[in-house]
Amino acid sequence: MAVSTLKGRSLLSLRDFSAAEITELLEHAGDLKERAARGEHPPVLAGRNIALIFLKPSCRTRVSFVVAATQSGAHPEVFGREDIRFGIKESVRDIARVFGRVFDGVMFRGFEHGTVAEFAEYAGVPVWNGLCDSYHPTQVLADLLTLRESFGELAGLPVTYVGDGRNNTATTLAIAAAKLGLDLRILAPEQLRPTPGLVADLLAEAESDQARITVTSDPTAALRGSAAVYGDVWVSMGEEDRTAERIALLRDLKVTAGLMARTGRADTVYLHCLPAFHGLDTETAIDHPDICEVDDEVFEGPQSRVFDQSENRMHTAKALMQLTVAG
Ligand code: CP
Ligand code: NVA
Repeated sequence: MAVSTLKGRSLLSLRDFSAAEITELLEHAGDLKERAARGEHPPVLAGRNIALIFLKPSCRTRVSFVVAATQSGAHPEVFGREDIRFGIKESVRDIARVFGRVFDGVMFRGFEHGTVAEFAEYAGVPVWNGLCDSYHPTQVLADLLTLRESFGELAGLPVTYVGDGRNNTATTLAIAAAKLGLDLRILAPEQLRPTPGLVADLLAEAESDQARITVTSDPTAALRGSAAVYGDVWVSMGEEDRTAERIALLRDLKVTAGLMARTGRADTVYLHCLPAFHGLDTETAIDHPDICEVDDEVFEGPQSRVFDQSENRMHTAKALMQLTVAG
């Protein structure tokens, strides 16, 4: 079998992979998912060691990468913020050079994009961005697999992202749209739109002529005909001091059954990267009971695919590690 062009490559942003490479990865993930359901776990990373570095908390990313590495035959080792003390005890580039000598691949969750980019430059082994302030590529790979499972073809598929249109998830969905030809509508208030120029740049470099990225505050324009409505938290990690402001800006964009119905389609699915504030009894929203980006009627309802997305984090992480480390 030919070695993948992804061998030895890092994933800092979805921009790093071509449309063909993303498709190859999604197909490999789908194949691995089918094999896992039959109890087959090809140990293509046997003898390898994978580091997982978390400067921000995580549930899905951690469990996905740990199990994906283990099922691939590799040994995963998790490092938290206090284990490493980036930039306090030692510089990023020194830690990266140590990890690059010892590990075969590194998942890195941090703050500024420049930190994960610097880490990758000095590590010299594949580095996977497990979320930074700007991007969340390993999440969107799982989202794309979930959309393929529901709708097959991605090119031309209308998808509406609702909420903070300038965050890491929205930005990465926009990159995916340009790569694969999604018809992405970002429904967001004026104050929470993608950074100026980003959408024009992405469309200028689009790999699919079906790519559309529309940024609007008009729910009708954003939702009509959409196959998927996608939500995220209103306040991303590291932005907690903006909570009151975000509630004021986003409370009218809570996803309800009424909002879902505005797609006019019976087969529209609801997606969310999770964690989510949903329903009225969200224990974690004690400090801000007004935060609730989606009603339980939708989150727990038949249109919801949010736990398929969570599971798909594992299958896509497995494909990503296998293709970039082993080829
Ligand atoms: N979606 C996601 O990245 O979840 P975690 O923050 O729990 O890893
Ligand atoms: N935008 C969210 C995504 C969490 C998976 C955050 O950065 O906190």
